[in-house]
Amino acid sequence: RPRVAPADLAARKAAGERIAMVTAYDHPSAQVAEAAGVDVVLVGDSAAMTVLGYDSTVPVTVDEMIMLTAAVRRGLQSPLLVADLPFGSYEASDEIAVATAQRFVKETGCDAVKIERGGTSVDRARAIVRAGIPVMGHVGLTPQTATALGGYRAQGRTADDALAVCEGALALQEAGCFAIVFEAIPSDVTDALMPRMSVPVIGIGAGPATDGQVLVFHDLLGIYGGRAARFVKRYAELRGDMIAGVERYVAEVRAGQYPATEHGYSMPEEESARLRE
Ligand code: KIV
Ligand code: NA
Repeated sequence: RPRVAPADLAARKAAGERIAMVTAYDHPSAQVAEAAGVDVVLVGDSAAMTVLGYDSTVPVTVDEMIMLTAAVRRGLQSPLLVADLPFGSYEASDEIAVATAQRFVKETGCDAVKIERGGTSVDRARAIVRAGIPVMGHVGLTPQTATALGGYRAQGRTADDALAVCEGALALQEAGCFAIVFEAIPSDVTDALMPRMSVPVIGIGAGPATDGQVLVFHDLLGIYGGRAARFVKRYAELRGDMIAGVERYVAEVRAGQYPATEHGYSMPEEESARLRE
């Protein structure tokens, strides 16, 4: 398969073909996404929670995200690779935003970056796009600022709040974002907005009307323990399989059943004889 480019996503939208996006955080998950034929891979700052054990996305650093994104890059050929710019790495000024985005492109080989919110992030998106780096927007529930939004909860559930979500999405589109994520907003808000969206919209908890969907790798495969958001559908239950596998290993080690003869190395018979002398 050839490498997916932002223009290919626009073409898919124009053709009415839905876009499948998934997160990945390391080399094996990138290879799984590649083999499964996804269109877009996001190294989400959800990595903070899914693989680094923080209790929100806020603490993850640029260095941490760069290490994860570079590992994903090495496992990926075809899908478009997007990296989340972490909280605090782009908001303060256009210069800081461009410098951070450039670092990601230089040090990881990602194809695009994603930033959260409308408001001042619209200016940051415009500045990064002007610097020649494709930007994906993200509106609705924006986890980096969840505290200000009243926690991890759906956004745009009143007409006024919905208007703010719409304004953000349209402004990001106007700023040159090649695609926008809608997270955790009522389907009605998505339905109202879609006719005005000329760029591909990727939904997560935003109903069926978007041009594509994104889910967190650990959520959709059931790797991550704990409570999942309403919009998560589990397509596998790997956590249970992984625990069962490690439990069997532990039991076999304790019972002396592992390793068996076939797991060991041998030496030529004459060498073995000399060794015994
Ligand atoms: O960090 C992430 O995984 C995301 C997606 C859920 C859109 O931003
Ligand atoms: Na994110």
